[in-house]
Amino acid sequence: MAENDQVRGSYWLKTASSGPRPALTEDLDVDVAVIGAGVAGLSTAWELTRAGRSVAVLEARQVAAGVTGHTTAKVTALHSLIYDKLRRKRGAEGARLYARSQSEAVERMAQIVEELGVDCEWERRDAFTYVCDPGRVEDIRAEADAAREAGLPASFVTETGLPFPIAGAVRVTGQAQFHPLKYLYALTDDLVARGGRVYEDTTVLSLDEGDPCRLSTDTGATVTARDVVVATHYPIFDRALLFTRLSPRRELVVAGAVAADRDPGGMFITPDEGTRSVRTAPYGEGRRLLVITGEHFTPGTGDTRERFDRLSAWAAERFPGVELTYAWATQDNDSTDTVPLVGPLHPRTRHVYVASGFGGWGMSGGVMAGGLLSALITGQPCAWSELYDPRRLRSTVREAPQFLKHQAQVAGHFVGDRLKPPPPVESLPPGEGAVVRVDGDRLAVYRDDDGTLHAVSSRCTHMGCLVSFNAAERAWECPCHGSRFDTDGKVIQGPATRPLKRRDI
Ligand code: FES
Repeated sequence: MAENDQVRGSYWLKTASSGPRPALTEDLDVDVAVIGAGVAGLSTAWELTRAGRSVAVLEARQVAAGVTGHTTAKVTALHSLIYDKLRRKRGAEGARLYARSQSEAVERMAQIVEELGVDCEWERRDAFTYVCDPGRVEDIRAEADAAREAGLPASFVTETGLPFPIAGAVRVTGQAQFHPLKYLYALTDDLVARGGRVYEDTTVLSLDEGDPCRLSTDTGATVTARDVVVATHYPIFDRALLFTRLSPRRELVVAGAVAADRDPGGMFITPDEGTRSVRTAPYGEGRRLLVITGEHFTPGTGDTRERFDRLSAWAAERFPGVELTYAWATQDNDSTDTVPLVGPLHPRTRHVYVASGFGGWGMSGGVMAGGLLSALITGQPCAWSELYDPRRLRSTVREAPQFLKHQAQVAGHFVGDRLKPPPPVESLPPGEGAVVRVDGDRLAVYRDDDGTLHAVSSRCTHMGCLVSFNAAERAWECPCHGSRFDTDGKVIQGPATRPLKRRDI
C-alpha cells in the first residue's frame, strides 16, 4: 500500500448519504438532551421519543460520522471471547444477563428495520470466534460452553466457510450484519418525524447538573433539559473519572470486492495475531469483503502505516486477488472489566447518564444502551441495569489489576514520552509530524505536502500528556485517553474538548 495512501475513507460513509441537519441556533427546553449522534445516542433518543419524551440530539460533527460510521457493523451477541470471562468475574447470572441483553438488542434492531421498512442490507449471519492456533482451542471450547450456558445458540465447531483451516471456533447462529449508516439515517428521519430534534455542528461546551440541567454550546445557544445523556464515545463530561476505567484502542479496516462464490458466509473474528475480523457486504455482482484488524494498539503508539500494510498482506494472503479499495480506522474503548458503562454518570447524579466502553461491540451495545437508558429515564425496570451500571463498585477489586495496568500505562506515557529525544524539525519529510523542541519548548509540528510547517502545542488539552503523530491518518493522537486532533489542532475525538493551541514556528 502506497505511503500516505492508506486511509481512503469508510465504505459506509461513501455509500450512504443524508441531508445536512441544522446547527442549534436558539435556546431549547426539552425533557432529554442527548449528546452524541452515534448508534447509542440515536437509539436512546429514538426510544425516548417513542416513549413520549421531547428530545434533542446535539452532535459536534455529523450524524453517525464518528465511531459508528467506521465500524464493521456486526450485530451480534458473540463478542469475541467474553462469556467464559464473565462467568468467572460476574458469575453465571452476569453472563446470562449479558447474553440476554445483547440478544434482545439484536432482535430490537431487526424489529426496527422491519417496522420502519429500512433498506439497510440487513442480513442474518452466523457469528464465529475462531482460532488457528491449536494451543488456544481450549479457550474456544470454554467460550462455547459459557455462551451456551448463558443462553446463546452456541456450539463448538472445527469447520467454517473461511478459505483457510482453523483449529476451532465458537459459532452462534442467527446474528446479523447491515449497513450502519443506512440504518441510522433512517432512524434519524423517523426520530425527527416523531418530533425529535437533531442538531449537527453543535459542540456542547459545559454541563451544569441540576433540576433542570443546563448545557451551553459553541453556537451560543443553551439547552435546558430534565435529563442528559452523554453518548460521546468517550464521556466528555466525566465527573466520575471514568477515563481511569477506559482504555482507548485504535482499529484498522481494509475492504475490497470478492466474487460471491468466495463469500465465507458468516461474520468472523479471531483473537489471533492481535485480532482479525472478516465479514462481507453486498456489492454489485460480487460481495465486498471487509477485513478489520483490532490490534488493540493505543492511539499515538507505533507506526500505523506498518499496521495497515500488515493487515493488507493478511487479507491478500487469505483472499488472493482481492483489490483493497477502502481503508479506514476507528477507535473504541475497553472498560476494565469488559462490560460497557451504561447508566448514571456518577454516584450522586440524578439526571445525567452515560453510555461508553463498548469494546468494539457498539452495534448491539448501542441499541442495548438505548433501551436501558430509556428505561432508566422513564422509570421502567430493566433486568440488566445493575450489570452495566458505571457505579458498579462491587467489581472494583476484581478489575483492580486491569485498572492499575491502565494507570501505569498512562503514567508511563505522561513521564516517558517527555524523556524521548525529539528529532530536529529540519528532518521532517512532507506528510510527517513529530514533537520537536523549539527554543526549549516542545511543539507538535507537521509538514504538509507543500512543505509548510504547522505547529501546535504538544500538550493534550485533556490532562496534559504529550501527543504523537499518526502519519497514516495525519492526526495528532494522545496515548493517555485517546483524544485526537487534526494537523491544525482541532479536536477530532475526545475526551479533550479544547483544541491544541496554534503556535508560531
Ligand atoms: Fe487524556 Fe490526552 S486524552 S491526557
